[in-house]
Amino acid sequence: MYIPFLVLLSLIPLSSGAKNGLAITPPMGWNTWNRFGCSVNEDLILDSAQAIVRNGLKALGYEYVIMDDCWHAATRDPETNAPRPDPERFPNGIKYVADRVHELGLKFGIYSSAGRYTCAGRFGSLDFEEIDAKTYAEWNVDYLKYDNCFNEGRAGTPLISFERYANMSRALNATGRPILYAMCNWGEDGPWNFAPTIANSWRISGDIFDVN
Ligand SMILES: *[C@@H]1O[C@H](CO)[C@@H](O)[C@H](O)[C@H]1NC(C)=O
Ligand SMILES: *[C@@H]1O[C@H](CO)[C@@H](O)[C@H](O)[C@H]1NC(C)=O
Repeated sequence: MYIPFLVLLSLIPLSSGAKNGLAITPPMGWNTWNRFGCSVNEDLILDSAQAIVRNGLKALGYEYVIMDDCWHAATRDPETNAPRPDPERFPNGIKYVADRVHELGLKFGIYSSAGRYTCAGRFGSLDFEEIDAKTYAEWNVDYLKYDNCFNEGRAGTPLISFERYANMSRALNATGRPILYAMCNWGEDGPWNFAPTIANSWRISGDIFDVN
């Protein structure tokens, strides 16, 4: 009598998203892309974080400072395959930036793509999920925006997209650091049907624009 009852309970989701306790309410923050495109650097991120505090946005609940595409060096570390930042734009590395953002009481987000390249043509994370997640965790990253460019055709059904995005979900979880996983696959293959078990948030469309 009790067995069917227990089976049923185990099918009920116990919490939302990737079950890492994040994004229980919609995450609030700011992303560099729409204003600055590829022109990210240490000063821009830290100045922006300070502006979020100074202008009272932090007090209103804006929490995540998210650095989008183009933070990357030309190549991964040739020996370890670890991702590394552009040495001129980030002379002190990414962990330095994340730690300064944390000192302001904010959280720090980074960007990659579930593809061979990012949308701006930097190295992507497809098939490098583990080393990338591990490195982001070492850098004290709190959030990953994970795009969909150059996905090598690994899309077209919910299962194929799910597997590609689940790989990063597992890799993030394995780091032991709670990292908000924001899937940005533009709504392809209906992420609302397959993302809730692996991600904390999922985009449902392409980019939005400030137009009327
Ligand atoms: C997951 O990523 C690893 C490399 O990090 C790769 O070898 C493997 O094929 C990927 N699995 C799936 C299902 O995409
Ligand atoms: C990893 O996943 C487990 C099971 O869903 C969850 O309890 C845990 O909080 C996750 N850990 C991280 C660091 O995301």
